[in-house]
Amino acid sequence: MNNAICLEGESVTLRDFTLEDTDDVLKIAGDDRVTRWLSYDSRDRDGVRAMLEGAATRAKEIPRNEYYLAVAAPPSDNVIGFCRIGLSGVQAGKLGYALAPTEWGKGYATDAAKTLIQFGFQDLGLHRISAAIGPDNAPSIKLVEALGFTREGVLRDHVFTNGAWRDSVLFSLLEQEWQAR
Ligand SMILES: CC(C)(COP(=O)(O)OP(=O)(O)OC[C@H]1O[C@@H](n2cnc3c(N)ncnc32)[C@H](O)[C@@H]1OP(=O)(O)O)[C@@H](O)C(=O)NCCC(=O)NCCS
Repeated sequence: MNNAICLEGESVTLRDFTLEDTDDVLKIAGDDRVTRWLSYDSRDRDGVRAMLEGAATRAKEIPRNEYYLAVAAPPSDNVIGFCRIGLSGVQAGKLGYALAPTEWGKGYATDAAKTLIQFGFQDLGLHRISAAIGPDNAPSIKLVEALGFTREGVLRDHVFTNGAWRDSVLFSLLEQEWQAR
């Protein structure tokens, strides 16, 4: 695969997906406890496979505009979550992440986000990283605030998920803030 990525965090590894990850990803993208916070409804096995095929196709694009990466906790290479930066605008990226419910509360999401943010500022030359989070998503809000993100405002009816429109709270982190932390 072109531009194949493997990033080492303190407790997690971020790497490109393969189709062999389908069953693991189904435990994340197919679980309503996870997708109720995302911008799409739960997917079945075919939907997850299509999602991974799409990610693999976009990973090969030059320039690469999306880093949609599998999160694993070594020594296991099984996928326990995903972390994504999509490039948009001028030196700007949008951050997203999700973990399988069995892995919540172990610090993995914080480490994954930290690792991808460092990659975004250092290797992709980003100036700004944003995250749009459901107003009631306390763990995710806590996570970005712990990493130094600033609350910018509310995006009204930002996503249509679970049969209804939902606001998002927009957070951002600038490169100089990350370096100064
Ligand atoms: C958001 C998510 C990835 C966080 O995963 P996690 O495993 O809890 O993350 P971490 O262990 O790194 O902890 C993040 C913080 O949230 C806190 N937290 C966890 N569950 C919480 C809860 N129910 N209420 C309040 N805070 C909570 C943790 O204590 C931690 O804060 P701390 O570092 O001050 O202790 C996970 O909850 C998830 O996958 N949710 C569904 C998908 C999602 O919401 N994605 C983000 C969309 S914007």
